[in-house]
Amino acid sequence: MKKLVIYFSHTGENYLRDGIRNITKGNTEIVAEKIAAMTGAELFKVETVQEYPYNYQECCDVAEYELNKNIHPELKKYLDNITEYDPIYIGYPIWWGTMPMAMFSLLSKLDFRGKTIKPFATSEGSGLGSSVADLTGICPNAIIKKGLAICGSDASMSDALVKNWLDE
Ligand SMILES: Cc1cc2nc3c(=O)[nH]c(=O)nc-3n(C[C@H](O)[C@H](O)[C@H](O)COP(=O)(O)O)c2cc1C
Repeated sequence: MKKLVIYFSHTGENYLRDGIRNITKGNTEIVAEKIAAMTGAELFKVETVQEYPYNYQECCDVAEYELNKNIHPELKKYLDNITEYDPIYIGYPIWWGTMPMAMFSLLSKLDFRGKTIKPFATSEGSGLGSSVADLTGICPNAIIKKGLAICGSDASMSDALVKNWLDE
């Protein structure tokens, strides 16, 4: 079986430990690429048709609105199926305590029956938040393994954490 990393990651403004910065490669994408390099997994990036705002505060507002209204934003591309992949690494930033709604847009369309999911998230204090419980809800027939929580500001230095988690 081939391996797959499905991830979402936002570029534009973000708060890192040392203040607000313009990010050209998102924290989750940095981790996703490490996983792909270490495992040989293919990468699938979740991207919305209506891009999330560059401005940090505006992005927070859109994300909160989508979460509260349970909006599944339309994506630029979808996966037809995941039959040839196992395990599947699923990564995202924590937004308002869980996955961005763009992840729900994709995951709700896929059949994860019997598939092993290894979730990973970057955040600035929430760890995995309620994302693993939410994954269980949206992928009820998957085997969901222990999640990996990485502090977004440390994404580029997370090799050892990622490797340990992959080896578990
Ligand atoms: C809209 C939005 C909501 C966020 N909500 C949370 C949160 O609830 N808890 C938290 O620890 N960090 C939160 N963050 C910080 C991100 O999770 C963190 O910066 C993450 O590493 C960003 O990953 P990315 O660069 O891959 O998008 C939020 C960031 C944004 C833009």
